[in-house]
Order: sequence, then structure tokens, then C-alpha cells
Amino acid sequence: MKTVINQTMPSPPHDFFQNPYPFYERVRSIHPICWGNLLKQSGWYVTGYEEAKTILKDTRFKNRIPLPLATKKYEQLKNIQSEMLLFKNQPDHKQLRFLVSSVFTPRMVDRLCPYIEKTTNDLLESFRNKKAIDIVSDFAFPLASQVIAKILGVPQEDHHRFREWAVSLIQTIDFTRSRKVLENGNEVMLILRDYFIELIKKRKRNPEADLISLLIKEEQQGERLTDEELLATCILLVIAGHETTVNLISNSMLVLLKHPQQMMELKEKPLLMERAVEEFLRYESPTQMIARVASEDIELHEKMIKKGDQVYLLLGAANRDPNQFNEPHLLDIKRDPNHHLAFGYGSHFCLGAPLARLEAQIALQSLLGWREDIQLAAPDLQWRNLIGFRSLNELKITFE
Ligand code: HEM
Repeated sequence: MKTVINQTMPSPPHDFFQNPYPFYERVRSIHPICWGNLLKQSGWYVTGYEEAKTILKDTRFKNRIPLPLATKKYEQLKNIQSEMLLFKNQPDHKQLRFLVSSVFTPRMVDRLCPYIEKTTNDLLESFRNKKAIDIVSDFAFPLASQVIAKILGVPQEDHHRFREWAVSLIQTIDFTRSRKVLENGNEVMLILRDYFIELIKKRKRNPEADLISLLIKEEQQGERLTDEELLATCILLVIAGHETTVNLISNSMLVLLKHPQQMMELKEKPLLMERAVEEFLRYESPTQMIARVASEDIELHEKMIKKGDQVYLLLGAANRDPNQFNEPHLLDIKRDPNHHLAFGYGSHFCLGAPLARLEAQIALQSLLGWREDIQLAAPDLQWRNLIGFRSLNELKITFE
């Protein structure tokens, strides 16, 4: 088959971060796998749903740490990231995933339900004398921090430190990161490493019922996690458990406030909540972009992807592909089927999906039942300048 790189991607408009969807449409209309250069990253940008799925299924497209291995800088970040499940490939990935998923199970997540409910209700109770709050920093962040800290078995008095660490580290895996972000991330990684080395030591001496103790004990067919893998897994869970969940809760609340009729319907029919959360995941996907690298020349959908080419999967675009979703730009909390790619696809499918879903369902249910008079404080909201994540700076709401 004759393959040519013909039309490349246009530059993104100035308001790209505020509303990336028209740009995604334009790029998809050129080709669902389009060569381009977005924010100084050259590679193939995938905006089509089927195309994204095909690539995520194909193990010739490898996951890789987002920092160049050649540079001697950011040693801590690189060492730890390369031990993370997220950046491993077969066969190492399969083995580590098997070990971690044997303890971080949907059943374990189910058992957290009362803790998540209590934490949510305590937070709402603490707003009793206020007239306004920021959903992002006052509600979603503390909730996500406390839940992930509880899972890992981090002492209560350290919960607040998690938030700062998670914020610095998530930026290091976004492609918009600056040198300052990486330097800061490298330092935070050192602090987090020392923190978890101490905690792991303690749990080795005195195991408790938390995930760290379970991971230390975990052994399958003679295989165990190495100390480096254990450390990297704890840190990955801190990062993964924060930003995306905070974004899911905040984005969902924004979307509901902008669709009052559907909000009303959800209040009246709480059984719709599960399906509604799937729609929020599709409509404002918390993870907008993930990346792969081609390990050999691969011909795909009339494009010749060369060995070493970077491939950027725009999940937020795939989730609005009209070839897969009817009226993709319309919110429909009853959408069915809704096989979105918000949690990725294939072997790296998000391990925290059951937790993220449960947290969002409980958080939204509680918020909707809390007060009748919640309003957006201001109609103009600022999205953070991140390409990998759909993340609000703040979401102020008022109530009388
Ligand atoms: C709404 C919330 C979340 C979203 C949208 C999300 C999204 C994703 C996506 C897209 C991937 C695949 C990355 C890739 O293929 O390159 C992923 C992987 C992963 N996620 Fe999540 N995530 C969320 C919450 C969580 C939570 C709460 C945790 C754990 C506490 C978690 C843990 C992980 C882990 C460990 C992986 C790596 C799995 C592997 O490589 O095998 N995630 N997530």
C-alpha cells in the first residue's frame, strides 16, 4: 500500500486549553491519525476512536517514561518512573500488574464504601457555616487525598502533605512541563521516596491491614515485588489517585451545573448515577492524552508509522468521535452503550477505575442531596494549561 504523509496538523488556536474540542474535530477531519507538532511534541496524533483502540491493543506500541533517557538530569524522577507499572512493557508489565492487581482488587475498593461516604459527609458538614466553597480544593482534593492515604495506610497527620506532592508530580508527566516543573518534581520525588522507604520499613516490621503491608506479603508463583517496584507502586498510586479523580469529580459537577435539567433528573433518579458518571468520563475526560512509541515500522490506516515515532492518543477526542458516539458533543447521562476510552484500553487499562468510579458516584450523590441552592459562582471558568489532563483551576460554587 502506498503511504504518504500528506497533510499535517494545524497549530492549535489560542483558546485550545479552554476548549480543545473544535481543534480535535479539525484534526480528525484531516485524518484520525495525523502527523503534527502540538506544543513542541512531534508525532502522530490520534483523534479517532477505532484507531486509538487499535493502537492501545497493539503491543508493538510501547509505553515509555516521558523523560529522555539520554539526559543525566532528573535522575530521581527517571529511576522511579521506570519502575512504575504504567511505564513497563511486556513481559515485566504482565507480571507486576498481576501482583498489584491481586491486592488492589474491586472487592477491596468496595469495602472502602463506608469510609468514602463518611469522609464525604464530614467534608460537607464542615461547610455548614459557609456561603461559598471551591469544589476543587475544598472538596474533591481532600476527599481523594484521604481515600488514597487510607488505602496505602499513611498516618492521618501526613495526609495534607500528599496533596502538594501529587500536584508537583502530575505536572512532570504532562507534556507542557517546564524545566522548573521537572526540577521541582525531581526534588519532590526524593522526599516522597524517603517518606515511603520509612513507611515500608515500618510495615515490614509491623504489618497492618493496608495496601503496603499486603504488597509486601504478596507473592504469586514464587514471584514478589522488588523493593524498587514496591516503592514505585506506592508513588504511582499517590499520583494516579489524585489528579484524575479530583478532575472527574470537579468536571462532573461543572457539567451538571451547566445542564440543570439533567441534574434535576439525576436527583430524582439516583439509580442513573452509575451511567451518568460514565458519561462525565466521556464528555470531559480527566485524562485527555496518553502516549506510546512505535517499536518497529507499522503500517496502519494508510499511514506508515516509523520505528521510534511518538504516538499521542487524544482520549478526549476519541471519546467525541461521531463514528462511535451519536451526537458526541451532547451530554446524555442516560447514554447507552457508552464504551468510552477515559480509562485507556488494553493491557494498561486503569487499575484504579473501580475506585475512581465509586469515589465519583458517592461524591456526586452526596453533593446533589446536600443542598437545593448550589450555583456556579462565576460563569467563566479557567482550565489549567495542561494537555494530558482536563483540569479546572477552581470551581467556586455558592449557596445561601
Ligand atoms: C477518573 C479517574 C482516573 C482516570 C481518568 C484514569 C485514567 C487512566 C488511564 C487513561 C490509564 C492508562 C494509561 C496508559 O495506557 O498509558 C490509567 C492507568 C492507571 N491508573 Fe488510572 N485513572 C484514574 C484514577 C485512578 C486511580 C484512583 C488510581 C489508583 C489509586 C489509578 C491507578 C492507575 C494505575 C496503577 C494505572 C497503570 C495501569 C497499568 O499500567 O497497567 N487510576 N489510568
